Amino acid sequence: MNRILISIAAIAIMGITFTACGQNSKKSGSEATKTLVAYFSATGTTAAVAKDLAEVTEATLYEIKPEVKYTAEDLDWTDKTSRSTLEMQDRGSRPAIIKDLKDADNYDVIYIGFPVWWYTAPTIINTFIETYGFKDKTVIFFATSGGSSLEKANAEFKEAYPEINWKDGKTLNKASKEDIKAWVDTL
Ligand SMILES: Cc1cc2nc3c(=O)[nH]c(=O)nc-3n(C[C@H](O)[C@H](O)[C@H](O)COP(=O)(O)O)c2cc1C
Repeated sequence: MNRILISIAAIAIMGITFTACGQNSKKSGSEATKTLVAYFSATGTTAAVAKDLAEVTEATLYEIKPEVKYTAEDLDWTDKTSRSTLEMQDRGSRPAIIKDLKDADNYDVIYIGFPVWWYTAPTIINTFIETYGFKDKTVIFFATSGGSSLEKANAEFKEAYPEINWKDGKTLNKASKEDIKAWVDTL
């Protein structure tokens, strides 16, 4: 009888041990790298690339939304008094954003996408970075443009936010999902 009881106890202990191990391995799964693809897009071009990038990287997709949307007049770069011209002339401008990104601190790698404005990132990207900080996180830019590169934005942001672990970003104009994957694999 005692032997039977000892056997039952041993089986129960093994069961508990295996269950605990199973829970541990689940936990280590949830500790895998978490990736965010955040983007601002005034007319939809960067949004489309962001969606593909999020699929390729299995990331959470998040839109950076201005509190006040940009109208076509706001985006007129030939108008010296348009909103975008004035914001880009004043590099200290910080257009307000809707602050609804949840658990920002949980992400290890953050891709930030935008349209190139005046050869660099719109200042709303500064607002986004200063709102969430991203200290010691890996941040990578991507953008769409009429042809300008990200050279200026890469250099400016590295200097402005040295607490972030920057990796050089890239313009993804007309990039296919295969092109995006090829770039991500180089990072
Ligand atoms: C205010 C403004 C400034 C721009 N400046 C540049 C520029 O310096 N270089 C460039 O190649 N394209 C420039 N563009 C073009 C945009 O980068 C391009 O159309 C982009 O793909 C738009 O992306 P979106 O649809 O996500 O807003 C500018 C567009 C706007 C509205």
